[in-house]
Amino acid sequence: MRVINSVKEMQQWSQEQRRSGNRLGLVPTMGFLHQGHLSLVRLARADCDKVIVSIFVNPMQFGPNEDLEDYPRDLKRDLTLLEAEGVDAVFNPEPAEMYPDGFSSAVTIEGEIAQKLCGSSRPGHFRGVTTVVCKLFNICLPDKAYFGQKDAQQVMVLEKMVRELNFPLEIIRGPIVREEDGLAMSSRNTYLNEEQRQQALVLSRSLNAAQAAIEGGERDPAKIKALLWEYIEASPLAEVDYIEIYDGEELRDINTIECPALIALAVRFGKTRLIDNLLVEG
Ligand code: PAF
Repeated sequence: MRVINSVKEMQQWSQEQRRSGNRLGLVPTMGFLHQGHLSLVRLARADCDKVIVSIFVNPMQFGPNEDLEDYPRDLKRDLTLLEAEGVDAVFNPEPAEMYPDGFSSAVTIEGEIAQKLCGSSRPGHFRGVTTVVCKLFNICLPDKAYFGQKDAQQVMVLEKMVRELNFPLEIIRGPIVREEDGLAMSSRNTYLNEEQRQQALVLSRSLNAAQAAIEGGERDPAKIKALLWEYIEASPLAEVDYIEIYDGEELRDINTIECPALIALAVRFGKTRLIDNLLVEG
């Protein structure tokens, strides 16, 4: 497994691979890998000739009062896990390699899709994500790039970017991977203390209740939202950031739940903000 820190070397490696006829899969990550990331690596492994994983905690997608400094990191462990998955190259640049002095470009997706949900609670977040992912695409030159459905809005924004800016690659969504008790896997779960970890189960449980109600015929988003609020507010440590239901393609407002619809939650437990979602499909 090659570990590459320089943009130039990564680009050259990818160009050589492509010249040899290899199809490249990229799994962009911020490290501190869990089974969710590894499930994306396995999808890429099954689909592509060579797999690249990027590990880069992207300063541009963190707000001034967010957890950039505290974001968990363990490169040694990450590399061991990726080696065991048969990954071919890991791209692990320093921030100054990605954003040299004077860097002033950005890729911005306008419109509701990037402004609602996390776009409104984390201003500038998606601008940071689209900019870094655009750079990663240009550096790693993948045929396919893999993102988890846990960050539903992120993958929707990136699909729109790829479509509208004509990137010659395909985005593949991997399903949400959950702990045995239902908590969606996230590197940020490590911030939770025992009590918060226990109460964080309201996210997946409330979504299960919403799914059951929808399967039982309920189509009114207001009623489903009320059900979710009731569940989550019953947990004393939970502080709701948002509970929303939009259409599952552009995040438009909807009056009735038709497929696809996205039910999205962001809830804080102390300083830790967790997200989870349910995509209601036909
Ligand atoms: O989902 C993430 O870990 C990040 O937002 C990503 C896609 C690697 C961009 O920094």
